[in-house]
Amino acid sequence: MKKYKLNVIHDGIKHTDKFSSDNSILECIESMMLPISSSCRRGRCKACKVVVKSKIHNGLGVNYILPCITHLSDDIEVEILPKPIIIKKTHRTVTINPIY
Ligand code: FES
Repeated sequence: MKKYKLNVIHDGIKHTDKFSSDNSILECIESMMLPISSSCRRGRCKACKVVVKSKIHNGLGVNYILPCITHLSDDIEVEILPKPIIIKKTHRTVTINPIY
């Protein structure tokens, strides 16, 4: 079976491996032991969204894909988006009692 080159940029470092089209790109990235978010694994939540660095012809006019529902059909380079930093604001007052 034909294999395609998958380049994955994570934290500015390029990781490369070859895969067939059997598994989703998400499964390929996970097998490369790279941290990638996922949740639904059905293309609904967009948690796994990656930026496509190489030219693709998905007909959608976007530069990202959902790797959980995408399989390789050509060589491709993608970048894992940094995880968003979630800052939780609280209005609760916490009292700390000193220990004597
Ligand atoms: S894991 Fe939900 S869209 Fe990919």
